[in-house]
Amino acid sequence: MALARSLLHPAAKPLVFVASLLPFAWLVFGAATDRLGANPAQYLSRATGDWTLRFLCLTLAVTPVRVLAGLPTLQRFRRMLGLFTYFYAVLHFLAYAWFDQGFDLGEIARDIPKRPFILVGFAAFVLLTPLAATSWNRAVKAMGARRWQALHRIVYAIAGLSLLHFFWMRAGKNDFAQVAVYGAILGVLLGWRLLDSVRRRGMRLRAAAFPGAPGPRSPRVRG
Ligand code: HEM
Repeated sequence: MALARSLLHPAAKPLVFVASLLPFAWLVFGAATDRLGANPAQYLSRATGDWTLRFLCLTLAVTPVRVLAGLPTLQRFRRMLGLFTYFYAVLHFLAYAWFDQGFDLGEIARDIPKRPFILVGFAAFVLLTPLAATSWNRAVKAMGARRWQALHRIVYAIAGLSLLHFFWMRAGKNDFAQVAVYGAILGVLLGWRLLDSVRRRGMRLRAAAFPGAPGPRSPRVRG
């Protein structure tokens, strides 16, 4: 299939890398040329939050799209997209630390537990950190596939906390339209994963009971 082949092209990964950096490039360019509106600090805080959530959705979409579209080579891009989620989360946190708190660590430590929506966003950020740190092949080997997979299941909690953070922030403005869209996307992506894991467990049990039966299909392409 042409699409599956083009995903394996040597230029595919650099292209996805450059495309993922475009929002960052736009923010730097916009800030340098004063194109971020009347309140550039707020624009940067919000845009980096939006891009964190978008990359989280993209990362979570890789496996369902890979399975449903029969494109095992798509898996090569998951780690990069996950790391870009973390990259935008770091920028988002730095924007808050800089524009809201003037990089005063004491103020940050006092503010986070005081404001529930910030606390929830911070929890999502903290939980993302071990996922980014263990996204390398060497970490997978050192931890063993089972423990690595168990750890990476906290992505469900991260998605839930991110959505709650966004919901809470918009609740102050009574504006839930975008929250509902992201909620629906994350609901479909996580719902699919849940159903898939139930299906796999069923197949494993069947395979154990009837050793001739086909096992769960799990094409893995790391890159
Ligand atoms: C995975 C982690 C996170 C995600 C996905 C996330 C996502 C978002 C999103 C989507 C928004 C709303 C943007 C908009 O209105 O268009 C937002 C706003 C905000 N987030 Fe986060 N966030 C995360 C972590 C954090 C952390 C760690 C902090 C600070 C400790 C934080 C502080 C804020 C603040 C202060 C706003 C409001 C910005 C403003 O109105 O000026 N977030 N975040």
